[in-house]
Amino acid sequence: MTKVRIGLIGYGVVGRGFVAAIKKNRAVIYDKTGIELELSAVADLNIASSYDQFLEDVPFKTRDAEELVTSPNIDIVVELIGGYTVAKEFITKAIANKKYVVTANKALLAQFGREIFSQADEAGVGVGFEASCGGGIPLISVLKEDLAANNILEVCAIINGTANFILTRMTYEGATYETALAEAKTLGYAEADPTFDVEGIDSAHKITLLSSIAFGTWVDFKKVYTEGITKISTVDINFAKELGCTIKLLAIGKRTEKGIDVRVHPTIISLKHRLAAVNDSFNAVLVKGDIVGETFHLGRGAGSLPTGSAVAADVIKLSKEIVNRTAPRIPPLGFLSPKELNLTDIKDVESEYYLRFETEDTPGVLSGVAGVLAKNSVSIKSALQRPYENELQIPMVFLTHTTTGRQIDDCLKEIIRFPFIKGEPVAIRVEEEG
Ligand code: HSE
Repeated sequence: MTKVRIGLIGYGVVGRGFVAAIKKNRAVIYDKTGIELELSAVADLNIASSYDQFLEDVPFKTRDAEELVTSPNIDIVVELIGGYTVAKEFITKAIANKKYVVTANKALLAQFGREIFSQADEAGVGVGFEASCGGGIPLISVLKEDLAANNILEVCAIINGTANFILTRMTYEGATYETALAEAKTLGYAEADPTFDVEGIDSAHKITLLSSIAFGTWVDFKKVYTEGITKISTVDINFAKELGCTIKLLAIGKRTEKGIDVRVHPTIISLKHRLAAVNDSFNAVLVKGDIVGETFHLGRGAGSLPTGSAVAADVIKLSKEIVNRTAPRIPPLGFLSPKELNLTDIKDVESEYYLRFETEDTPGVLSGVAGVLAKNSVSIKSALQRPYENELQIPMVFLTHTTTGRQIDDCLKEIIRFPFIKGEPVAIRVEEEG
C-alpha cells in the first residue's frame, strides 16, 4: 500500500493551511516519500460555507466528525478543532478505532497528553503533534529524534506568535497593546480565546510539551509558573531600551541539580541575546544539549501555512510508519512512566531582576527602597531615576544582582507599605543567554 487515507476534522485557519500544503505539493510529497496522501474526508460544522477549490475532489464531506473517526476508510485522523472537550472525544475514539492521529492541540496534550499517549501506546498507533509547538518550526522531531543522543540541558523559547507580535509592535512602532492584539487576531495568530496568548497560558502548554520531551519525564502543566504580558507597559519597554535590552515573553525549561525548572514570564534580555532579534509572529527556540552544544531554531510560530506545514510533516511521518509497517514512534518512554522530576518552585528560581517603583519625589525615597533591598540581601547592580515631564511622581528603576523570587517578593511586600510608593511595583526577571 502506498496510498494513505486522511480524515480531517476542522477546516479553520490551520486546517486550510494543511490542505493547501498537501494539495499544492502533492507531487513533491510523492517524489520524496513514494506515498500518495489522499484527503478522503473532511468534517467541519460549517462545511457548506467553508467549501473551496481544495475540497472539490474530497469524496466525503460532513458536519459529523463521529462518522470520520469510526470510518474503516480512514488511516490517519487529523484533529484541528482545538479545545478540550469534543477534540478529546474524537482523538480518543479515533485511537480506539486504531487510527493514527495528528493534532495541533497543545492545550489538550499539555493537560491530557499522558493519558492520550498511553492509550495510543496500547492501541499500537502513532500520535503526531509537531504543529502543537512553534508553528512551522520542526521542534518536536528535533527534541525527540534529531537530538536523541543528548541530555537536553535547556530549552529557552519565544513560543507564542501573538505575544511576540504585540511586544514587537509596542517596542518598535509605539503601538498600543489593544491595537496590536486586534491586528494579531485579524492575522489569524491568536487563539480562539486570546487570553491564552497574552496571559502566557499557550506558551505554558507548549513548554510543558517541549520540556516533557526534552527531559524525558512528564511535566505537570498545572505546576508550571505562568505569567503573561498584560501588565507590560511602554514605560518598562522604554527603560529596557535605555538599558540596551528588550522585553520578550520567554518559555524556559532547564535541567537543574535538583530536577527541572519550567516557567513562562516576561523577561528582560540584552539586545545581544539571540532571542532579542526575533520579532513579529516569529518563534525561536534555543536548545542546549550536552553533546551538541547550542542549537537555534527559528521560523513562523503561527498562521495558516506555517502550522499547516507542520501538520503535513506529521502526516507524512506517520504515513511512512503505516506504509512500512514500522512500530509507531509515539513519545519517549519517559512520557508514559510514572517517574517525575522535581519541579523547582518559582520562588527558589534565581535570576537578576528589573524593578520599577513609582514614587513621590521627596527626600528619603531612594534610601528607603535601597534599605529594604539591602535588608533582604538583594544587591543593586544599577539604579536609574528620571523625572517625567510635568509630574510630581517619578519612576525609580533598579537592576539587581542574582537573587531569588522569594527575596524579591519579601522586598516588594515591604516596599509597597511606604506611603511614598504610588501604584503597583513592577518586577521583571532578567535572563542571560546560556
Ligand atoms: N496562538 C498561537 C500563537 C498560535 O500566537 O503562537 C500557534 O500556536
